[in-house]
Amino acid sequence: MDRKHIINDPEIGNKAEAYEAFDDIPTNPHLENTIGDVIAARYGRREVLRGMLGVSAATTLFGTSALVAPTAAKASQQSESRYKFDELTWGNDEKHHIAKGYEADVLLRWGDPIMADAPEFDVMNQTAAAQLKQFGYNNDYVGFTPLNAEGTRGLLCVNHEYTNEEVMFPGLGRQDKQGFTGMTRDLIDIEMAAHGGTVVEIAKGADGKWAVLRDSTLNRRITPLDTAMILDGPAAGHARMQTKADPSGTAVIGTLNNCAGGMTPWGTWLMAEENFHGYFWTDARDADGKPDLSAHADAASMKRYGVPGGWYAWGQHHDRFNIDKEPQEPNRFGWVVEVDPRTPDAKPVKHTALGRFRHEGCETTVSSDGKLVIYMGDDNRFDYQYKYVSNGTVSYTADQNTDLLSDGTLYVARFDADGSVHWLPLVHGTGPLTAENGFASQADVLIDTRLAADALGATPMDRPEDAQPRGDGTAYIMLTNNTRRKADEINAANPRAKNTFGHIIEIKEDGDNHAAIKGTWSILVKCGDPEIAEVGAQWNPETSENGWFASPDNCAFDADGRLWISTDQGSKWGKTGKSDGLYALETEGDLRGHSKLFFRCPVGGELCGPYFTDDGETLFLAVQHPGTDGTKSLKGFERASTFEDPATRWPDFDPKMPPRPSVVVVTKTGGGKIAG
Ligand code: FEO
Ligand code: CA
Repeated sequence: MDRKHIINDPEIGNKAEAYEAFDDIPTNPHLENTIGDVIAARYGRREVLRGMLGVSAATTLFGTSALVAPTAAKASQQSESRYKFDELTWGNDEKHHIAKGYEADVLLRWGDPIMADAPEFDVMNQTAAAQLKQFGYNNDYVGFTPLNAEGTRGLLCVNHEYTNEEVMFPGLGRQDKQGFTGMTRDLIDIEMAAHGGTVVEIAKGADGKWAVLRDSTLNRRITPLDTAMILDGPAAGHARMQTKADPSGTAVIGTLNNCAGGMTPWGTWLMAEENFHGYFWTDARDADGKPDLSAHADAASMKRYGVPGGWYAWGQHHDRFNIDKEPQEPNRFGWVVEVDPRTPDAKPVKHTALGRFRHEGCETTVSSDGKLVIYMGDDNRFDYQYKYVSNGTVSYTADQNTDLLSDGTLYVARFDADGSVHWLPLVHGTGPLTAENGFASQADVLIDTRLAADALGATPMDRPEDAQPRGDGTAYIMLTNNTRRKADEINAANPRAKNTFGHIIEIKEDGDNHAAIKGTWSILVKCGDPEIAEVGAQWNPETSENGWFASPDNCAFDADGRLWISTDQGSKWGKTGKSDGLYALETEGDLRGHSKLFFRCPVGGELCGPYFTDDGETLFLAVQHPGTDGTKSLKGFERASTFEDPATRWPDFDPKMPPRPSVVVVTKTGGGKIAG
């Protein structure tokens, strides 16, 4: 059987670029052309920010950046930046850079031992058994939950999104163009063991430096190779969730492509499953050599999600990733997974109530009436922004919140040209979500969340990545880019055709209540170089040449309610010449829309995290796939990286070691609040 790769494009240099190319293929056939005048950004708007009961107690006990004390985010008129640091100069080279007066120390690298009995990393002789006990690859989301009142000891929770074989394995080279001929079962199992997540205990020493506690019994790896998980919520047990290995439809092994995420107010960790489609395989081909789904009853559903993507060869050795052999396994991926990091033997739970799509993040907050609210993007061109609202109210005790992620309402956003946003409920029997339209039950609505959202008339967006609520009814939505949007496809909330550089939308929910079904929206910034008129960027005019950015991806609030944005330009970073990095973006006062550069990545890396501790003195950052993206744009290098010949060997700079995705911990030299 010809196992030629589905996409065989000479321009595709590695897995990250392959994903990007796939993202260029919109799977939403229901594009609406709600053309209207672009809403002028309502700069200078003031909202009365109100308090939220229980915040202080919750942050002390459980430490989540989702619960930012609203007093800290107070609207104010100011002409001085609220972020006190001297901005970094833009650029791109093989090292990372941090603003003057700060330290950026590498805390965890791919292969570092996590379990007490883990072997030391031996990159030339890696095994799946070793990788299962070591830090995984491509760290994306980083969360932290403290184990003591001072917050000096706690659990770091890290997602491992995917793998880049060409820089992981000696002598392998690029697989995307080679039909996976080099991918043995052993290498595939290492890849699988390098996906998933890590829980690791860390502590801050007297010198102010954080260190890994390797002997902690709470340390844990979660992988798609061997971690048993539970499916719960309305789709659990449904006939479409059943497989040969699991006739109950309630038990699944592992999690895939965990991108951004979130921490709940009660200290559990949410892992978002993003590009799950890429892991599924078929041998059936049509006359054009494309996957032939004609034998599948679920073909319309599969097509809408891009299943099978064929980006990994796992299906050649693990039948459950081959849809010819196990057609319903893909239905068990694309969810949000909850992990209790304090209980290492507790099975993670996939919560089907939160919908199935390419989940980018799942940042939580508590509404003014006490409900759990989660903002979630579906990262594909022309896909949607979602929000989940629990039926019950939040308690700050973990064992009292067992239903909040199972019993609630999932909504999808419609952004209207009059500046209003309407949250449309994805509830079976409501509007078009009926059996006549193919949704026989709530399980069908959730398994086919994208088709249900199409039917409701949601607004097709420019790739919704992370979204961050602030606890005061405000949320920020990262729209990273969408070069495929044509002039007749713009809408008010996505106003640029061929949107190469992305934009950020601010939502203010009615009554400052995150659970509201209506709110208003405005565009905070339109990204790209403000000096080039055709780009159509929109920044506060005080923003310097160092401060503007492109392709906002992840975001976080610090302890003072200030917004920070990390970027992922993918292989297209050559269009700006800037490496990806972390930016401080003003949301209030007369500097609203002003951005400053704080940290930048080594070449070819995207920046993930970010996560601030509750005292605002520590910032965790994740540098993902250093040395891989768009290295043909690096002057003097100008070629694709491989294990033997990478554009950088960050962070070790050891000639025997390839680049390693790593978590970086940022502190102020001599201590104190970051940017304070
Ligand atoms: Fe995994 Fe959408 O970034
Ligand atoms: Ca992301």
